[in-house]
This record gives sequence, C-alpha cells and structure tokens, in this order.
Amino acid sequence: MIVTTTVQEMRNLDNQRKRGAVFTMGALHEGHVELMKECRRAIGADGLLVVTIFVNPTQFTHPRDLEKYPRTLDEDIDLCSKSGVDVVFAPSVEEMYPPGQQLSQLSAGVLGTVLEGKSRPGHFDAVATVVHRLLEITMPSITCFGEKDYQQLAVVRKMVSQAGIECEVRGVTTVRDIDGLALSSRNRLLSVEDRNAARIVPQALALLAKSAASGEIGQAISSATALIASEPRAKLDYLEVVAPDFGPAPRQGEARALIAVRFGDTRLIDNCPVMIGGVAK
Ligand code: PAJ
Repeated sequence: MIVTTTVQEMRNLDNQRKRGAVFTMGALHEGHVELMKECRRAIGADGLLVVTIFVNPTQFTHPRDLEKYPRTLDEDIDLCSKSGVDVVFAPSVEEMYPPGQQLSQLSAGVLGTVLEGKSRPGHFDAVATVVHRLLEITMPSITCFGEKDYQQLAVVRKMVSQAGIECEVRGVTTVRDIDGLALSSRNRLLSVEDRNAARIVPQALALLAKSAASGEIGQAISSATALIASEPRAKLDYLEVVAPDFGPAPRQGEARALIAVRFGDTRLIDNCPVMIGGVAK
C-alpha cells in the first residue's frame, strides 16, 4: 500500500487501472470500511482503491469542534492496509489549500441551507468544494459515500452532475452498532453515559418510521420527539421528514426522516427511509 501526502505523487499513479475513491476525515471505523468494500466490488480486484484522510478545516462551524475532532492516522493507515486499500492520500492543509492559490469555492445551493445546513451555515459549500478538489486529485470513476450523511450524499451528487464530472457517486447503507447507533467518528467523543443514552436516536427514528406507516406523519414526528425528550441527556436539534429530493414530505409515499441530537457538546446525526401511509422499508 502506498501512503502519500502530496498531490504530485497522486498525479504520478498508474492511471491504467480503474479507480475507486473513498473520502474520509479519518478516525476510521467499520462504516468507512464498508465504503471501501463497496468501492472494491465496483472496481474489481485489479482496480486501484484510493482512500483519502483529511480533516477539512473549512467545513467545521466551530473551531472547538475542529480541535477536538479525533485524529488516529497510524491506526487508520493500519485499517486501510488490512482492508485492501492500494493508496492512502493524507495531505496537509497547505497541500489541499496551497497558500496564495485561489481555489474555486463551490456553493451547495438551497440544499446547503436546510436541515444540517441551517444548523451549520457554509458547511455544505465547504464539503462541495473539498470533495470537488479531492475528485480532481484522485480522479476516480466511482466514489462511495455513506447514507449516514444523507444530505451530504445529495450535495455531492448534485455537485458532480453540475460540474460534469464523470464519476459514479454510490450511496452505501449506514453501518450501525449492535444497539442501532450509527457508527461515527464522533461516537468516540461521547462519555460512557452519553454513549448509552445515544441509542435513543435510532429508537426515535424506528418509532417514527413505524408510526408514519399508518399515515399520520405529524403524529409520528410528535411521538419520536417525545421519545427523545424522555432522555435527559439528549437535546434535539432537529427532526424533520422530507421528500427524497429534500422538498416537502409527500402526503403518502417515500420520504426520509433526518435527525440531529446533541449529547454534551457532541452532535450526532442520523436518518432513515420512511414510507408514509405504507410499510416502512
Ligand atoms: P467522514 O465523516 O469521515 O465520512 C467519510 C464517509 O464515510 C462519508 O461518505 C460518510 O457518509 C461515510 N460514513 C460515516 N459513517 C458511516 C456509517 N456509519 N455507515 C456508512 N457510511 C458512513 O463525511 C466526511 O468524512 C467529510 O465530510 C468528507 C466527505 C470526507 C469531506 O471532507
């Protein structure tokens, strides 16, 4: 496995092999590994699987959040090696954003201003910008993104199509812990008590999906909100149900529930498919 920190070295890689890329901020877990596996399946044994590890400072809303973001580069490289990765690209901030060089700043549009974007202004513009740059550097024909960050997946899909980049963006189902909590690099920042309490998040989503199947979406949201409120450690940021394209939820049919909950100063997000007035998937 090649480990590199420079754009130059990335550009010199064998470009005959079909390329797949997984972009991460490190502190890797089984969710990231699932993206690597899906990417490998797509490019085949002969393909070149690239994983990037870069804690992108521009997408953090609060400096403290950036500061305490877990960094475990040695372990990450180990996990990549065990997961059949061919190239790890772990650049510095200067390598990604060369001083004095004006990089184009992308906008995530309206999609970047709702839900997660409302709580974190500018976040999705920064994600669109860094993913665009990572695509330019790694030049994959396929990239896998987790449904765990459902809105991010939508932002990236839109950016790729608007920029005319020839790369398939494949969504991968959320990998969860045994009690249902979505795996996240941020989970390791939770105290034992908060980690235990955090199971309320997938429970609330499950309750919402089940109640929505009867067609009463307002009631379903109320029950799920009440469940979160019953956990004193949990502070609900938002819980919304939207159409698959992030428009208003339909009266009936497919929708998506998205939630953000704070435990201490750690904020967790999750989402699930909802079938309003039907059987939840
Ligand atoms: P990060 O949070 O490290 O996530 C990297 C990728 O792993 C994203 O596509 C994310 O959706 C996926 N992922 C995280 N947890 C997952 C889980 N439990 N199951 C499945 N997939 C999961 O998302 C980012 O980094 C950054 O915003 C990035 C795209 C790298 C841009 O900086």
